[in-house]
Amino acid sequence: MYRIKSKNDYEQSYTNALEAPEKFWADIAENFHWHKKWDQVKSGNFTDLDFKWFTNAKLNITENCLDRHLEKRGDKRALTFEANDPNTPTTHYTYKELHQAVCKTANMLKDLGVKKGDRVCLYMGMVPELLFSVLACARIGAIHSVVFGGFSAQSLADRINDCECNLLITNDGSYRGAKSIDLKGIADEALETCPTIKNVLVHKRIESNITMKEGRDVWWHDLYDKASSDCPAEVMDSEDPLFILYTSGSTGKPKGLMHTTAGYMVWAAYTFQNVFQTDEQDIYWCTADIGWITGHSYITYGPLLNGATTLMFEGVPTWPDAGRFWQIVDKLKITHFYTAPTAIRALMACDEKLVEAASLSTLKVLGTVGEPINEEAWHWYDQKVGKKNCPIVDTWWQTETGGIMISTLAGIGECIPTYATKPLPGVKPELVDEKGSVIEGNDVSGNLCIAGSWPGQARTVYGDHERFKQVYFSTYPGKYFTGDGCYRDKNGNYRITGRVDDVINVSGHRIGTAEVEDAIDTLESVVETAVVGYPHDIKGQGIYAYVICHSTPSNLEEFSKQVKDQVTKVIGPIAKPDKIQVVTGLPKTRSGKIMRRILRKVAEGRPDQLGDTSTLLDPSVVDDIVKNAQ
Ligand code: WTA
Repeated sequence: MYRIKSKNDYEQSYTNALEAPEKFWADIAENFHWHKKWDQVKSGNFTDLDFKWFTNAKLNITENCLDRHLEKRGDKRALTFEANDPNTPTTHYTYKELHQAVCKTANMLKDLGVKKGDRVCLYMGMVPELLFSVLACARIGAIHSVVFGGFSAQSLADRINDCECNLLITNDGSYRGAKSIDLKGIADEALETCPTIKNVLVHKRIESNITMKEGRDVWWHDLYDKASSDCPAEVMDSEDPLFILYTSGSTGKPKGLMHTTAGYMVWAAYTFQNVFQTDEQDIYWCTADIGWITGHSYITYGPLLNGATTLMFEGVPTWPDAGRFWQIVDKLKITHFYTAPTAIRALMACDEKLVEAASLSTLKVLGTVGEPINEEAWHWYDQKVGKKNCPIVDTWWQTETGGIMISTLAGIGECIPTYATKPLPGVKPELVDEKGSVIEGNDVSGNLCIAGSWPGQARTVYGDHERFKQVYFSTYPGKYFTGDGCYRDKNGNYRITGRVDDVINVSGHRIGTAEVEDAIDTLESVVETAVVGYPHDIKGQGIYAYVICHSTPSNLEEFSKQVKDQVTKVIGPIAKPDKIQVVTGLPKTRSGKIMRRILRKVAEGRPDQLGDTSTLLDPSVVDDIVKNAQ
């Protein structure tokens, strides 16, 4: 694989990727197995939104993740599984075994009538069968749509219906710490409104009492044991869809970002190798869930494309105690550890003895992702976990970008607390002001855009190309707009400062304020809601909901519970508001727009910084809001 080895190498690669992208990317793509090579490395642009990579090439990504390694790495561990319960023995799968498991799973899907181009929804816990299923879809050319196991029945149904999946794969239930989640029960409720689903494939994980619907539901073990382990890979076009993954934005329902085969493959592999710099014997652990993009690119595709050993963990960092991560690092001799700032902050707040009890001596590289990391958490991670001996890669990227865009390369670039630092070769960040002018020079802040396409970029919003254009390419025509604010320091290092749109980042999860508002508004007692984010010590951001009711609730505690339950029901527990304030009015301009700036300041506890409120229709509502702030 293409590997940047030094600072000079980085600088040279950066220039090459900018000046001769065709050659740069062709050289990298040469490392993979193709049934037919590309006619053109890249085509299209951000105006017509028709960008493509490695056009007319033919390949299958699973041959690159699995088959390609069999000769040299057949007996090497590909996947290690650490169960929720620390007393359950760790399971290992070699590349040979993983290849077989994926082929068997792929044959099961075929037996259920799944064909190339079909959409398959995966609603599962973090068990190896989830990873088998992801790769099995890719093996036969079906498009996987993984839905995080913490979403509600309604969210699951919305996602299934949006891309018209015909198969759902789920577990009877899943373990998360001391709790278990009734995945099949939630799926059953969702499927009452999902006419396109023909079958449900159920993998047994917990011994729970579930109902299997005759003619629709089938047990994984009944089919798996009989399935052949021979499954030739479907030959896909470079631009055939590989997966859809839903993510929240400023407005409306979550969007199904669609990624295609060759470009995503090259990007996941290239970024994994260069950011983490793993060696053959290393053991890499990303603590994300496969329900999010990080689990797609950096538990599944990136590591396997590089022939690495990837660890999948079923549980949570705080069970049975808050030393679980560190115990696993020692037990499995983890060399590369990649997690989210929210996990670091949560563990920082626990007994120090737990981290001090572990040796952590195998660790070489630490990573963070998902949200800005604060200085205190960065230093704790550096000192307590890395023993001041491991580079920290702060990786900035998004569901839309497919893989890491701005990050230090481990051992090569500089590690600066709270800075993602430098763009990867092939990425051209631009800071843009409110009017759309590019801000040149250093020591400047602006809205972060990317000029020009990169291979791993999402190609569209599934079924709605117009929305893709509207959301990402219309604010600053000709550029991809990330929705993030950013500072570039005097040395050209990038520091991501957070979302500049109406998206809240709660514990690294993207939540649209509009989605939460819509969920609360479905309560009969509610007239209108406005939701904003505010700084939260552990979660990064918390959710603050201002709610207007038809009549003031007699029991505020009960009303708050109702609101939380409703959000849990409509979206899932991750979107539950932390604070709820019943108000009599919202600060609106004469044209009816809510001035969220004011609500944000109140939520932050800074009513002294409200700024100009003279354009409000009724400035007096603000006094009321400030007086009763939570
Ligand atoms: C935020 C997760 C600061 C950012 C991979 C982005 C970050 C959103 C970082 C994408 C980071 C991600 N520093 N902020 N290192 N990484 N973000 O789609 O606001 O779940 O737009 O992808 O997370 O979230 P998503």
